[in-house]
Parts: sequence; structure tokens; C-alpha cells
Amino acid sequence: MRSFKEINALRTHLAALKSKNKSIGLVPTMGALHQGHIALIEKSRADNDATVVSIFVNAEQFNNEEDFSNYPVTIEEDCEKLVSLGTDIVFSPAHEVMYSARPLLHFGFGAIESVMEGEFRPGHFSGVALVVSKLFNIVQPDRAYFGQKDIQQCAVIQQLCDDLNFPVGIRIVPTVREHNGLALSSRNLRLSVDEKEKASGIYEFLKMAQQLLLDGKTTEDVKLLTRQKFEEHPLLNLEYFEIVNSKSLMPIEQIVQGRQVSLCAAAYIGEVRLIDNIYLFEEDDN
Ligand code: PAJ
Repeated sequence: MRSFKEINALRTHLAALKSKNKSIGLVPTMGALHQGHIALIEKSRADNDATVVSIFVNAEQFNNEEDFSNYPVTIEEDCEKLVSLGTDIVFSPAHEVMYSARPLLHFGFGAIESVMEGEFRPGHFSGVALVVSKLFNIVQPDRAYFGQKDIQQCAVIQQLCDDLNFPVGIRIVPTVREHNGLALSSRNLRLSVDEKEKASGIYEFLKMAQQLLLDGKTTEDVKLLTRQKFEEHPLLNLEYFEIVNSKSLMPIEQIVQGRQVSLCAAAYIGEVRLIDNIYLFEEDDN
């Protein structure tokens, strides 16, 4: 595995690969790698001649100083995992390398960021779009891989590519879960064994809401019942539960067969904020 911390050295290495017509896949991450990240890397390795995994905890996308300073950093273990996966290239720049000057650019994504993560984490998607734009410009990949778990991030990145004509194919990879249904997340490292077990309530309630909708209950009733379930839970503190169009992410009042619908939630367990989502119709998973 080749490891780069500097932009120019990485660019030179990639230029040599591109001159031989090698296709490049990019997997942007913030490290603390788990099986969810690994699913993205494996997909990229299957689709491309070479895969670049970036590891960079992007301060610009954290709207909460504490969340940033508590973000797990496990770079040595990450590199060992990447080597054993047969990753070609890791790019792990220091903050000063990615942000040699304080950035002034801000992105706005209109309605997409007025709901859910956008509403509760102001500025978050601008920071994500900024770092992903930088990575797309540095790596100039053929394809880039993102997880379904961050459904709104996927929508923002697709919009970014459409609006700025980045010639990058965006690939979305299904959410990888623990045996109890809890979506894998680097933040799970901050949960105790008991919290990790109880955090599976998020997935359980999403599945319950899915069943109720499939049984014909109204979105209004399902939202009420699901929020009530969260209230009764001993540890989970619900921030939002929404039923949305999977592409626009706008809330849906009526389920129409054939439209893509997603059920999305964010909840705190102690200080740790977790998000998850599932498609209403399982055939949309393919
Ligand atoms: P991070 O949280 O490290 O996630 C990196 C990628 O892994 C994202 O595309 C995310 O959706 C995906 N991922 C996380 N958990 C997953 C799971 N359980 N199953 C499948 N995929 C999963 O998302 C970010 O970093 C950052 O915002 C980033 C895009 C790197 C920009 O800084």
C-alpha cells in the first residue's frame, strides 16, 4: 500500500496510473474504520483498477466542538486494516495540508439541507461538500463510494456533482449492521456494551414503522406511534423521525406505491448522536 500525506505527491502518483488508463475509485472516510467502510472499499476494489481511501477528520463539517474533539482517531489500526484488504493508496493529510488557508467558500443545498441533518447540524453539509470537492479535485476519481447510512450526505454529494459537473460516478453502498441491527458507526466506539445493545432500538423502531406503513397506517399515525416508542425507551433520546422521499428527502404525507420512500431517524444515547434509515420498500435496496 502506498501512503500519502501530501497533495502533490499523491497527484504525481495518480497521474502515472491515469496515463496507463487505470480507473480510480475514491472512498472518503474520517477513519476509525469498521465493516461499513470496508464494504465501500471492497466495492471500489471490485469496480476499479486502483482504490484511494482518504482518512481525514474534517473539522469544517463538525458544528459541535466536543463531537470533533471526541471523534475517534485510530490511524495505525486503520492502516493495518487497509493493508490486509489490499488497498492500493491511503491519503491521510494533516489539517494544514487540506486547509492551508482558512476557507471562505460556503455551499447551500436549499431544501435538501433544511430538513433532518441539515436542520439539526447547521453548516454540516457545507463542510462535507467542501472537503469532498477538494478530494474530487485532488484525486479526480472515476467513481466515489458513499454509504446509504448517510442518505442525506449521498443526496448532497449527488447534487454537488450535478451542479459542478464533477465527472465522478457516485456509488451508494447499503448499510452494514451489527447482529442486533445497529448500523455500524465510528461513534459506536463511544458506547458501552449495554448502550450498544439498547441502541439497536433505533433499527427496531424503524422496522416497526415500516411494518405499520406497509399494513396501511397513515404517515401521521406512524410518526406518532414511532415517536412514542422512542419516548418509552430507557436510553434513546429522539431528535427526529421522518418519512421522506428517498431522493429529494422531503417529508411525505401519503405513501404512493412505486415511489421511493425512506424512514430516517437521529437519536442520542447519552452524549453520542446516532443516525439511521431504511427504505420502506425492500426492493429499493437493490
Ligand atoms: P465517515 O463517517 O467516516 O464515513 C465514511 C463513509 O462510510 C460514508 O460514505 C458513510 O456513509 C459510510 N458508512 C458509515 N457507516 C456505514 C455503514 N454502517 N454501512 C455502510 N457505509 C457506512 O461520512 C463521512 O465519514 C464524512 O462525512 C466524509 C464523506 C468522509 C467527508 O468528510
